[in-house]
Amino acid sequence: MNIQACIFDLDGVIVDTAKYHYKAWRRLANSLDFDFTEAQNEQLKGVSRMESLNIILKIGNKILDEAQKTALTKQKNDWYLEQVADMKSDEILPGVVDFLNELQTKNIRTALGSASKNAVLTLEKVNLLNYFEVIIDGTKTTRSKPDPQVFQLGAQGLGIAPENCIVFEDAAKGIVAARSAGMYAIGVGNADELAHAHAVIPSFEQINFEKIKVLMC
Ligand code: BG6
Ligand code: MG
Repeated sequence: MNIQACIFDLDGVIVDTAKYHYKAWRRLANSLDFDFTEAQNEQLKGVSRMESLNIILKIGNKILDEAQKTALTKQKNDWYLEQVADMKSDEILPGVVDFLNELQTKNIRTALGSASKNAVLTLEKVNLLNYFEVIIDGTKTTRSKPDPQVFQLGAQGLGIAPENCIVFEDAAKGIVAARSAGMYAIGVGNADELAHAHAVIPSFEQINFEKIKVLMC
């Protein structure tokens, strides 16, 4: 494979924000009188805010109208933003900055492919905005992962063919999305949860471009 671009998910790949999403959703579930486990949270990774709420309400057996649901997604986002308010560069996941720098020196193009509507804000907080030539986030997509739209738009924005793109993802639904887009899907995290990936790395710690190429052989 002729690797020309890397497309990165944000939450749980670039920054350690997946835990903040979980905490805010759990707080919301608790406010509705049910609990929501970390294992159940796996279903939410990579999924848009409203779709995440729908999954949670199903788990809690709650039926609400659209106005109530809109108010709850706003509440969850307020709680989420409280947690990311003070976020600094030390919440960038280990090895990520070195890897992004290495890609720049090798002229490998980079894009972000995230479901989050807070993506630009988050990248600004941790000073990574300039690393991504194209940013596709929840404000630019109409369909959630596992739909490939977010990654297709990323590749189109870069002008690179899907077969020349690698996607880095921590969500099972993101892996499906990347593969449906015809890209090489590398899971970042737990190999059991990311069983459909072409390859899995535990994190970017001690990862460099050569190791990625070896992994792909
Ligand atoms: C994804 C996260 O990146 O973004 C999900 O994995 C989150 O957990 C989704 O629900 C939407 O994020 P936001 O910031 O727009 O609520
Ligand atoms: Mg993620």
